[in-house]
Amino acid sequence: MPPSNVLKPNVPTGFGLMGMTWRPKHTPDEQAFATMKKAIAQGATFWSSADYYGMPEPTAGLDLIRRYFTAHPEDAEKVTLFIKGCVDPQTMQPKNKREQVLASAETCIQRLGGAKKIDIFGPTRQDPSVPLEETLGAIGELVAADKVGGLGISEAAAQTIEKANAVYPLSLVEVEFSLWTPDLLSNGVAATAKKLDIPLVAYSPLGRGFLTGQVKSLDDIPEGDIRRRFDRFQPENFNKNLELVDKLKAFADKMNVTPAQLALAWIRATSNSEQAGTIIPIPGATSPGRVEENTTVVSLSPQDKTELDQILASFKIQGGRYNKHLEHLLWQ
Ligand SMILES: NC(=O)c1ccc[n+]([C@@H]2O[C@H](COP(=O)([O-])OP(=O)(O)OC[C@H]3O[C@@H](n4cnc5c(N)ncnc54)[C@H](OP(=O)(O)O)[C@@H]3O)[C@@H](O)[C@H]2O)c1
Repeated sequence: MPPSNVLKPNVPTGFGLMGMTWRPKHTPDEQAFATMKKAIAQGATFWSSADYYGMPEPTAGLDLIRRYFTAHPEDAEKVTLFIKGCVDPQTMQPKNKREQVLASAETCIQRLGGAKKIDIFGPTRQDPSVPLEETLGAIGELVAADKVGGLGISEAAAQTIEKANAVYPLSLVEVEFSLWTPDLLSNGVAATAKKLDIPLVAYSPLGRGFLTGQVKSLDDIPEGDIRRRFDRFQPENFNKNLELVDKLKAFADKMNVTPAQLALAWIRATSNSEQAGTIIPIPGATSPGRVEENTTVVSLSPQDKTELDQILASFKIQGGRYNKHLEHLLWQ
């Protein structure tokens, strides 16, 4: 039997942990711990990670979380932790069969070593060749056994959200949403999540750093960084997309806020509006200063919001969100 009271995150800003470990150079523990502590102090207590956020060792992200909560057991109850799994870390293709889901969850639980419970667990992508009932049923088994607390899915289309929630009540849906990826407002995802009262977790809300204005040339992205594989960051698209960033930077300057704060303010202004239900941005950052900047809420007046929407409508983003190997897994 699915639980009657479903855990649903509800904070203005969450925190994405991917960048700490899914990069050629990991964030040293001292800095990572200070950043994580800062997130909690700032109320960004919804954390998102995955069982493949590590290079070269896929589980490095889980290992960081274990070390943090081992050092700070007093914080374990303060944080709602969402872990995605069920993919091949080399190819990023889904592994959503029952036994694969159970194995992925078991790996996560073992790596976390009891230092932190997985509050919400779920598949990273949908696999149309595996029935949703099989994948989500396996997670239902994990919830029933109290191994994880609830179910979240990612990159789901509107009809998948509707179907999944009928199979097993969803705690959240994690989807890309930002000033350069507003798709969920027009593809039915926001409307469906609002209707079903399911929080959307907005991933890459700063456009993987691009919208902050700090990535000015490809040289600002280290070799081996995953962004170098994505279409929007290819040389033929990069400079064109920078034109949007310049416009946003001018807008942020006018408001006396940073471009990152503007990007997050636009998301918060969309949350709980006519267009959408709850949307929680999860900016990734590796320093306490950036977490403080990103969690310092600045508000947009309706006129600011309209002006920003007009800028977006006048601009065509160049390049897909991922690349030809991964495109078929989006909005599934
Ligand atoms: N479900 C999915 O398929 C999926 C896919 C991608 C991401 N995610 C989740 O979404 C989270 C966030 O996404 P993301 O890391 O891809 O992108 P993001 O949050 O849009 O951007 C993170 C980048 O922006 C930089 N940054 C953060 N705050 C800044 C500031 N105030 N000023 C200047 N630069 C700033 C970060 O730098 P530093 O890190 O160097 O500080 C990092 O390079 C991830 O941690 C992950 O949990 C989920």
